[in-house]
Amino acid sequence: MKVAIFSTKPYDKEALRHYDNDEVDLSYFEVPLNIATAHYAQGFDAVSAFVNDDLGEATLAKLAEYGIRLVALRCAGFNNVDLEAAAKLDIKIVRVPAYSPYAVAEHTIGLMLALSRKLYKAYNRVREGNFSLNGLLGFDFHGKTVGIIGAGKIGLLVAERLKAFGCEILVYDPFLCKSCEEQGFKQVPLEQLYAESHIISLHCPLTRQTQNMINEDALDQMRANVMLINTGRGGLIDTRALIKALKSRKVGYVGLDVYEEEGALFFEDHSNDIILDDKFERLLTFPNVLVTGHQAYFTHEALEHIAETTIQNLIAFKYQRKLDNEISFSK
Ligand code: NAI
Repeated sequence: MKVAIFSTKPYDKEALRHYDNDEVDLSYFEVPLNIATAHYAQGFDAVSAFVNDDLGEATLAKLAEYGIRLVALRCAGFNNVDLEAAAKLDIKIVRVPAYSPYAVAEHTIGLMLALSRKLYKAYNRVREGNFSLNGLLGFDFHGKTVGIIGAGKIGLLVAERLKAFGCEILVYDPFLCKSCEEQGFKQVPLEQLYAESHIISLHCPLTRQTQNMINEDALDQMRANVMLINTGRGGLIDTRALIKALKSRKVGYVGLDVYEEEGALFFEDHSNDIILDDKFERLLTFPNVLVTGHQAYFTHEALEHIAETTIQNLIAFKYQRKLDNEISFSK
């Protein structure tokens, strides 16, 4: 079975090669998959795509025209796929449901600590021989209330880690979180989480319901000086509203690993380009904002797991076995 792997970076190739075998014939393309690049899929049986590839109706229709019947996502999130169009076009979508929730949870904690103790400033200061502590005052996590939105694999790991710091944990999830009670995490309505949390961390999927859930209204309900962390998906936050809340000092700290229009920026070196996204550039001017470029998942263990599961998904499709990691369309 011939598979076109899109959005391939050297580290992806390295990881996939490790799990490559005679069952699948992989060809690597650095370009992202979208309507303009879909033609590369001609002559292949399946494609593999990543988080910011555009799998809207137009791209899927092109893939269907070339006879592609499987898209193997190398990620967990699938907000970039039009599942309804895929179902109509008889294209199956599989994903890697969990590669390393630990990687994302650990990065989330890293962002929180770096912000609170201003490690990103301290690093530069000390290298320049500036040992002044002015402006580096942090706060103890011990005794603080943390609100976790989305009590899934990653959210619960973040909660467990913060509990060990001595934080009180509030959780919001539309579904009953059975293990929350056992672990002493309080499942509360969103309004209560907003009102009581010193730190709020987003770990729910991006859906029609959660799109821009952190908007002006939500930000208004939060405590002054709140720390907001997003390692979920960029679209969860209305960036304009966030900038306004940063300017008014309502929000005291922001840590982002994802950004709503990251597709035009992330995973590439733009250091010699003029960045045209003014919203993004404005965010970077705040001294209390720390942005990483969708690297929360990026550990050895996660890359290995992504490669292994992707190959398993492809082989299952080849032999028409049950696709354990299929995402089906439901209204
Ligand atoms: P999961 O599926 O285990 O958990 C998601 C949780 O969100 C579930 O408990 C679900 O009930 C809850 N949820 C659904 N709708 C909600 C709503 N409206 N409000 C609050 N909670 C809601 O997913 P997992 O593995 O914990 O991943 C969470 C998210 O993290 C993914 O959807 C993905 O977008 C993001 N992610 C980010 C990565 C990165 O590198 N930055 C890497 C992997 C995932």
